[in-house]
Amino acid sequence: MTVPARTQVAIIGAGPAGLLLGQLLQLRGIDTVILEAKTPDYVLGRIRAGVLEEITVRKLREAGCGERLAREGLVHHGTGIAFGGALHRIDIQGLTGGKVVTVYGQTEVTRDLMHARESIGAHTVYEAQDVQLHDLTSTTPSVSWLKDGKRHTLHCDFIAGCDGYHGISRASIPKDSIRSFERVYPFGWLGVMADVPSLPELVYAHHERGFALCSLRSPTRSRYYVQVPLTDTVDQWSDSRFWDELLQRVDPLTASRIVTGPSIEKSIAPLRSFVAEPLRYNRLFLAGDAAHIVPPTGAKGLNLAASDVHYLSEGFISHYRERCDLALDGYSQRALARIWKAERFSWWMTQLLHTFPDQDSFAPRLQQAELQYLISSETAQRLLAENYVGLPT
Ligand code: APR
Ligand code: PHB
Repeated sequence: MTVPARTQVAIIGAGPAGLLLGQLLQLRGIDTVILEAKTPDYVLGRIRAGVLEEITVRKLREAGCGERLAREGLVHHGTGIAFGGALHRIDIQGLTGGKVVTVYGQTEVTRDLMHARESIGAHTVYEAQDVQLHDLTSTTPSVSWLKDGKRHTLHCDFIAGCDGYHGISRASIPKDSIRSFERVYPFGWLGVMADVPSLPELVYAHHERGFALCSLRSPTRSRYYVQVPLTDTVDQWSDSRFWDELLQRVDPLTASRIVTGPSIEKSIAPLRSFVAEPLRYNRLFLAGDAAHIVPPTGAKGLNLAASDVHYLSEGFISHYRERCDLALDGYSQRALARIWKAERFSWWMTQLLHTFPDQDSFAPRLQQAELQYLISSETAQRLLAENYVGLPT
């Protein structure tokens, strides 16, 4: 497919943020081209969290990706918190007036969005090398990239930077026009995927040996994590060492329910909190991981990308359909207000459940008190539940 010389919104990155934005715009008659550095298989090979808030599910439906999600997504009404040898259930649905989360892997979200884009014949350039953003301060910006030994140029009205934390979009903004806020945690998560029967609900576990999480992708595919030092490497973790560690960190009831088996994927990811402000530089808008990172505790990454895209698509839609720029001008402030609340929640879940090296003797006592408070107070549980299902947009 030949790429046109001009589009309305050029989108950098074909992760969930870029693909969802492209879909919401195309379906409202706004033309987009997506430029992605990698191949579709590479994009689909990345394994990330898989817990969707209702707003994310709604947006995916709007994008034409609701069918398989409705069929295969697993609706979860509660989640477990394990510590001190016991499992406590947070009744997410009961505490939020009926809200639920849907377990559906990010890989599947991405696959559905790719198919939806393909089926409406919208342009996506994969393996676009050395993407560059030009004339961002003019009303006629453009993007260029290398492919098949040639540099190509695409003129546009706007650029949406959906190219993740390491992308070119945020890096193209002059240093004095953007600020970043960051917190790096002194540990990572070792994740294992295995085709073994999964638990019916997620379990977030705090243990003096470190945090652990029991999650899933389907009734027959499980996803488990344990907190590890940043210096650890995957080859130090045989399957048997992993399962042994996981079973020590969860409560005995959960341990008795876990089915172990050979891993089909194993990787270590560091934990970070990061926010860039503002999310706009003239004709360039940032969304998703290009704008912010949350630690995975609470599974807010993909959901935040979806809410950014919700606000940004509304901005573009009223620009083109109503010739009104209020929503586009308010995008950064509106999105950041929700982003910071999700940053707070992800940070709070992280500090509640992990063990921190090199802290004073006071901190673990506070952490125990907070965990005890959580399981004994419906009010405290409601705070967790309200954030877990996603704050209103
Ligand atoms: N040029 C073109 N594409 C790029 C460039 C570049 N210079 N740099 C990065 N990309 C692509 C990446 O290859 C990736 O496919 O941008 C895409 C960004 O996708 P994600 O990292 O998945 O980010 P985002 O879409 O914002 O995802 C939000 O999903 O992947 C998770 O952790 C993420 O949970 C978060 C949510
Ligand atoms: C996952 O299934 O990978 C997952 C679930 C919940 C989290 C993080 C990751 O908080």
